[in-house]
Amino acid sequence: APEIREQWNTKLGLILAMAGNAVGLGNFLRFPTQAAENGGGAFMIPYMIAMLIIAIPLMWTEWAIGRYGGARNHGTTPAIFKLFWKHPIAKYIGVLGLFIPFVVLCYYIYIESWTLGYAIFSLFGMLPHPDPSLPQDQYLKPFSEFLQNYTKPSVVAYIFFLITVAFNAYILYRGISGGIEKFAKIAMPTLFILAFILMVRVILIETPNGTAVQGLDFLWHPDFSQLSNPKVWLAAAGQVFFTLSLGFGAIITYASYIKKDDDIVASGLSAASLNELAEVILGGSIAIPAAVAFFGVVNAQAVAESGAFNLAFVSLPAIFSNLTGGNVIGFIWFFLLFFAGATSSVAISVPIVAFLQDEFKLSRKTAVTATLIFMFLVAQVPIFMPRALDEMDFWAGTLLVVLFALLEVVIFFWLFGAKKAWEEINRGSLFRAPRFYFYVLRYVTPLVLFAILATWSVTILPKVLLTADLQVWIARFVMVFIFALLLFMVYLADKRKTVEEMK
Ligand code: PHE
Ligand code: NA
Repeated sequence: APEIREQWNTKLGLILAMAGNAVGLGNFLRFPTQAAENGGGAFMIPYMIAMLIIAIPLMWTEWAIGRYGGARNHGTTPAIFKLFWKHPIAKYIGVLGLFIPFVVLCYYIYIESWTLGYAIFSLFGMLPHPDPSLPQDQYLKPFSEFLQNYTKPSVVAYIFFLITVAFNAYILYRGISGGIEKFAKIAMPTLFILAFILMVRVILIETPNGTAVQGLDFLWHPDFSQLSNPKVWLAAAGQVFFTLSLGFGAIITYASYIKKDDDIVASGLSAASLNELAEVILGGSIAIPAAVAFFGVVNAQAVAESGAFNLAFVSLPAIFSNLTGGNVIGFIWFFLLFFAGATSSVAISVPIVAFLQDEFKLSRKTAVTATLIFMFLVAQVPIFMPRALDEMDFWAGTLLVVLFALLEVVIFFWLFGAKKAWEEINRGSLFRAPRFYFYVLRYVTPLVLFAILATWSVTILPKVLLTADLQVWIARFVMVFIFALLLFMVYLADKRKTVEEMK
């Protein structure tokens, strides 16, 4: 007999699971590097605006779309879009809601496994311990060599990858409330406590080069001249999408397990607020201030510009290695990242799992096994080809999420109908969403998303299409294959249902 659709057990569990979905590597690595590169404190202006006119309305939209679908036994967009828009193409547009999370999963989980590896290395003192009196570049060198050797990939990296996949499998096998919700209830409080401890420890760092307080000053010093640069605005919008998991299909599937008449407006805001707390307060007070205290402002600028991975896996271990109790501090840093990553990787796994359960009536166990085996095969591409990883991240993690978000809003607010969509958001809510957002969702959000896509198509896209090597082409080929396979599966699922309805 088919299993009955699962539901979140408690409201707190739902909010923590949704916060776990959102709080990820993006908060602790991507946010501080983006802010430092794009105007420091001034970055917060486009960031806040993007939060108000894109993120909050999209969050409510995705929660509402998901809850609506779940009440009709569908947790993914191919079937849900068809409910909103009775056009044969609707279900194929919905394929994006499977494609995006799956492609992102295939590299996200690999990077997550590095954090587990580094947590263990830190704890057991296996990271380099160079002489602190060395000049800076020589001091850093063993750390970047360590990362290079690790990500070659080494056998050890591969083993940690397998352990990470097994850990994700374990949570997913236990289901929505028995696995994901229970894990979030442990992982999220732990994560906040660890991040708080780390923040306090970092603020106390003082070296001859600088202090962490100077680091806060550096990160938040507003450079308003940057605001005339469209790149800064696009970076802010991109960060808001990534950090809140918007346009990835992952929120929609989580929302499909909400009870039929449960509140969305307040719960969605709560989960988003927890993410912002973890991002702006905790994420902003750890990596960059530590780098400034240790390397000084001038060098920290270079560190920020060398990117999020370098900051996480080279600079911070180098800083911690010099502090008393550095092994434990390093462990806290990487273990915190691992929990942040794990609560997100299960979220991007869930759309395909739900699709196989809802549309092909597979059991949860079979659906999880099939998803993870397929993920494991595809993951070999980013594991062995770093430029393929970047290419997958550009298409699935950056460009298509904005397109998918635009399509969501248009299908929900224009094709299903603005009045019905607005009522759906507010149904069962603790308080109604401000009327202002009715107009924002109808006009402003879709226009802004369209403008972002148009700008990207003329600025970034030509560059991406021109820089092509073998790894990049392999990534593109694999992505086209995945997309075609999903299209075919959606076609099959739809045919299957039509046959059943005729019986
Ligand atoms: N929001 C996550 C982060 O900040 C990334 C993510 C995107 C997770 C989409 C799940 C789905 O790291
Ligand atoms: Na986030």
